[in-house]
Amino acid sequence: MALLVNPWSMKVIKVILLSYIISNLFVQSANSAKTRHLKWKVEYLHWSPDGVESVVMGINGQFPGPTIRARAGDTINIELTNKLPTEGVVIHWHGIRQIGTPWADGTASISQCAINPGETFVYNFKVDKAGTYFYHGHYGMQRSAGLYGSLIVDVAEGEREIIHYNGAFDILLTDWWHKASHEQEVDLSSNPMRWIGEPQFNCSLAAQYSNSTENPCTLRGGEQYAPEILHVLPNKTYRLRIASSTALASLNLAIGNHKMVVVEADGNYVQPFTVDNLDIYSGESYSVLFTTNQDPSKNYWISVNVRGRKPQTPPALALLHYPNTHISTLPTSAPPVAPRWDDYDVSKSFTKKLLGLVGPTNPQPPPTSDRRIILLNTQNFIDGYTRWSINNVSLVLPSTPYLGAIKYGLNGAFDQNPPPDRYNYTYDVTVPAANQNSAYGSGVYNLTFGTTVDVVLQNANAIKANVSEIHPWHLHGHDFWVLGYGEGKFDEETDVAKFNLRDPPLKNTAVVYPFGWTALRFVTDNPGVWAFHCHIEPHLHMGMGVIFAEGVDRVGRIPVEAMACGLTGKMLMNSNVRH
Ligand code: C2O
Ligand code: CU
Repeated sequence: MALLVNPWSMKVIKVILLSYIISNLFVQSANSAKTRHLKWKVEYLHWSPDGVESVVMGINGQFPGPTIRARAGDTINIELTNKLPTEGVVIHWHGIRQIGTPWADGTASISQCAINPGETFVYNFKVDKAGTYFYHGHYGMQRSAGLYGSLIVDVAEGEREIIHYNGAFDILLTDWWHKASHEQEVDLSSNPMRWIGEPQFNCSLAAQYSNSTENPCTLRGGEQYAPEILHVLPNKTYRLRIASSTALASLNLAIGNHKMVVVEADGNYVQPFTVDNLDIYSGESYSVLFTTNQDPSKNYWISVNVRGRKPQTPPALALLHYPNTHISTLPTSAPPVAPRWDDYDVSKSFTKKLLGLVGPTNPQPPPTSDRRIILLNTQNFIDGYTRWSINNVSLVLPSTPYLGAIKYGLNGAFDQNPPPDRYNYTYDVTVPAANQNSAYGSGVYNLTFGTTVDVVLQNANAIKANVSEIHPWHLHGHDFWVLGYGEGKFDEETDVAKFNLRDPPLKNTAVVYPFGWTALRFVTDNPGVWAFHCHIEPHLHMGMGVIFAEGVDRVGRIPVEAMACGLTGKMLMNSNVRH
């Protein structure tokens, strides 16, 4: 990669752009779904994601981890060895539904035991649907530690994309802190809680005060944080795949002078629409098409800005490079600006433009649901600790994973009382709660197999008055239809009547806006135990999630090493349960 001495290298929201152009020479034997064997070692590495040397969790000596590239129908077989000296690890394949392989979902305490240091676990699963995905650690805050990478699934051999383009790039957006993820975990779990702050750390600003020995911005490892350059040819159409693995930040991406046509969201095609900039929340992915129809003697900025929280540094930048100029030539115009960080109307109008491209892979939802679960999102205190709760339950994960525990009836493994389907409707979502206490819980929503479930996320005021946060909620094991968004309190009569049942988008992550609600629908057709949670890492760490179990009696043979941890899990091992 070319290195530039430049004013934007001190970006701190790390925009990791893994770019390549799909080569026409990429030939495979016709029509054959393949098994792709990979051997991965997860290890700590010294790395400088933003110029400041840190310790990151990497894979096979790389940060971010290697990009997985496959075709729809392929099987991915990853032998994952944990080379971390003293902690367990798992990896979740975000957006892959794990049909028939729920034990490969990579969620510690939910689908499997954490892989111990020195041990190997084999993830073997099918990527059934083309799309833009990613993978990341799902134990403690290991995503914040840097354990992530891209997972791109192309259409099956012999099939044609319904969108047309001449080349493609792949961007994984992340944010990065100088404080290690373990320290962040301790801070968040302290009484009083210490907030992790915003990810941006402006080294160029800090450098002005650098006569102090405390300056943390000792820039090292230039090639590890050099700005990314997208090399394009004039008058071509490119696909830009964008996924967000941020721990906290909601982002907005824009390309100077170039419009973008949104064509894919979370691995599903959407009805194309044109934008100047695009919002992306943690857990989401998009594909946009852009055409290089601008003056080819110039370069253009790609800028990424923070939304929803007050940003503290300039945008992260990358460069769109045309061939008739040098890569070190700075664009003549300033980086494109994003909507103001708290302009939620812009975000909402973007979200509402996302509509499903109804067809064989994107059917309409069933017209009615069998069960409706309304989940009130609140910020609470439990014994002075700051927590997030759902219907007044703050999730704590058990030591024996749910999947094996439910399949083998290990009742002692977690709370047998399921959490409630409703909250108390007298609750006023517009002000801080009169009683800010809540309770820990590890109960499970048992969903009847083969039914249609509506889940409504109800946002509320947080602990502080006049504060309600954005929460991007992600569902494992499924795509859901996003039936609607609204303001204030969800009303089961009037709002249900307004659901979009005609062309709702299919997604795996959907945002709930401050003081609003979001309604989702899915069909319980995938036996397993699936996490549904806020994708903001600190929020999940503070209990912001629920567990859905469906058709677990239909789950096939669970690998023993995915079940045999925690007291009840070990007893299961010892009791010769046949499986
Ligand atoms: Cu990408 Cu459970 O998350
Ligand atoms: Cu959240």
